[in-house]
Amino acid sequence: MYITDENDYKAIERIILDKLYFRNRGAGVETHCSKFEKDFAQKMDSNHALLVTSGTNALICGLLSLGIGPGDEVIIPSYTFFATASAVINVGATPIIANIDETLSIDPKEIIKLITKSTKAIVAVHMDGHPCQMDIIVKIAKENKLFLIEDVAQAIGGKFHNNYLGTFGDVGCFSFNVDKIISAGEGGAVITNERSTYEKSLCIQDGACLFGSTHRDSFKTINPFIGQSMRVSEITGALMNVQLPRLDGILENLRMRKKIIRDNFIKSAIPIINSNDEAGDCATSIYLTFNSIEECREKTLLLNSEKLTVIPVTARPAYACWQWMHLLAEVRPRENYHKSLFLKSIDITMRTVKLDIPFEMELDKVNDLSIQMIKKITT
Ligand SMILES: Cc1ncc(COP(=O)(O)O)c(C=O)c1O
Repeated sequence: MYITDENDYKAIERIILDKLYFRNRGAGVETHCSKFEKDFAQKMDSNHALLVTSGTNALICGLLSLGIGPGDEVIIPSYTFFATASAVINVGATPIIANIDETLSIDPKEIIKLITKSTKAIVAVHMDGHPCQMDIIVKIAKENKLFLIEDVAQAIGGKFHNNYLGTFGDVGCFSFNVDKIISAGEGGAVITNERSTYEKSLCIQDGACLFGSTHRDSFKTINPFIGQSMRVSEITGALMNVQLPRLDGILENLRMRKKIIRDNFIKSAIPIINSNDEAGDCATSIYLTFNSIEECREKTLLLNSEKLTVIPVTARPAYACWQWMHLLAEVRPRENYHKSLFLKSIDITMRTVKLDIPFEMELDKVNDLSIQMIKKITT
């Protein structure tokens, strides 16, 4: 949650006073939730958006709306938050883990190696604000008739070749939990261009949405079916309506700061990793990759200061697949869940640190600090 202020409070005050917490208020009635969904879909250049209770549920809803379930394999990256894998398990399918490349996103060449007759989908995860190579991944999905799901939890507003992340495949899944660029504390959303996928998501999000008048006219392409409960309250919708207009400003702010640090690092030959699309990158972070684990450890200690956070990407406990693979193996034992298959990912992540872009720091301070960092690791 990059920005929160009294406008967030004002947005929910009326809901509490009027006791209008429930989003379903009859066909055609605009609510905080439906307004956000309309604006978010428009902002992302997508036909439909639907709020749900979390990013994990957005993934579950997306997978289920594409008909993915038991017997199906879904290819996911070796470096992602555990929720990407747990969502696949939750729909009864099997996550198949692919190595990442130097950009720390799923390596398209590795996806191809893992496709079998049972493969139904690829989940491209735009980690730490960095876009995956969507042109190549879209091509692989099309050629192999696979669904493509984007996990955009960490990269809302990011673009690849000028198109919003989340719009390249069949569904885009977002998280609005407290760590995200814009947030309602908890929450998530699914976007899709396909009317039938949206209608299926509606049923999955609210198992009872076929009763009552709100969705009386919503089902034009499918027969509504029994779903789950991922419905959000108006508080989520109202908070997201205040948060969404802040998105472009936040990204601009981050991008300005990242550019200063990046330019300084490049001038001094500091080993940063280029994003797959620097202009579309959310600029929440920069990766630095060193030649060896020892060098990485030594430089990280020097780089850390009270003002800037630099952490090894493997320091977070639920991100690298060897930290969570054993949990998958307990549910669906697989040869694919073996550390030896991920030596390439282990090597890359163990040598990589993530510098979080200091969102609120004055620009000249950002410049000074990055120069100080360079001195620390080059002298
Ligand atoms: C890449 C990724 N996918 C999915 C999720 C799950 O989102 P949530 O915590 O809202 O369920 C997260 C959350 O941090 C995430 O980072």
